[in-house]
Amino acid sequence: MILPIYGYGQPVLKKLARQVDPQHPNLKELITNMWETMYNAHGVGLAGPQVGLDLRIFLVDTEQVKDDEKLDIGIKKVFINAEILEEEGQPWSYEEGCLSIPDIRGEVERLPTIRIRYQDEHFTWFEETYSGLNARVIQHEYDHIEGVLFTEKLKPLKRRLIKKKLEMIRAGQIQADYKMRFAIRQG
Ligand code: NI
Repeated sequence: MILPIYGYGQPVLKKLARQVDPQHPNLKELITNMWETMYNAHGVGLAGPQVGLDLRIFLVDTEQVKDDEKLDIGIKKVFINAEILEEEGQPWSYEEGCLSIPDIRGEVERLPTIRIRYQDEHFTWFEETYSGLNARVIQHEYDHIEGVLFTEKLKPLKRRLIKKKLEMIRAGQIQADYKMRFAIRQG
C-alpha cells in the first residue's frame, strides 16, 4: 500500500524518532508499504517520519543509481534503530533532494565515510562502514530520524532563496507526482 508522504512543515519531521521494538505491530507490513511508497515516488531512501511515524527506521536503495553514479556497490537495506558511530574524511558536496520537500535541491556538505550500527528487519545487529553516495544517502535518512532536514544544512544564501518555496510546501501549494500530506490543509 502506498502511504502519503509527509511534507515540509509537518511536526513529525522535526521530532527525534523513537526506538523500534521487535514486537512493534505490523512491522513487516509497514516495511513493505515503505518500500512501495519509496519506489512509487522514485526515491533512493525513505524514513519513518516521512510517512508520519516517529520511528527509528529507514530504507535505502542505491542499487537503482549504481550505474549512473558509478558506484562499486549499491545497497538495498532496512536500517532499524541505527546509530552513526563515526563520520570521517574530507567534507564533500553533493546536490540533495528529499521526497518531503519536492522541487527543492541543494548542495549539502557531508563527511564521506561513516561507521554505523543498526538492526535489520529481523532485529539482528550489524556494524558496518559505508562511503561515498551510499554513506550520503544513509546520512540523509539518518538525519530524518534525528529530526533534521537537508534544507537546514544548506548555505545561508541558498536557505534564504528557498524560504518562500518551503512555505508553499507547508501550505500544500505544490504539485508532486505522488501522494502527500501537508502541514496546512487546504479548503
Ligand atoms: Ni529526505
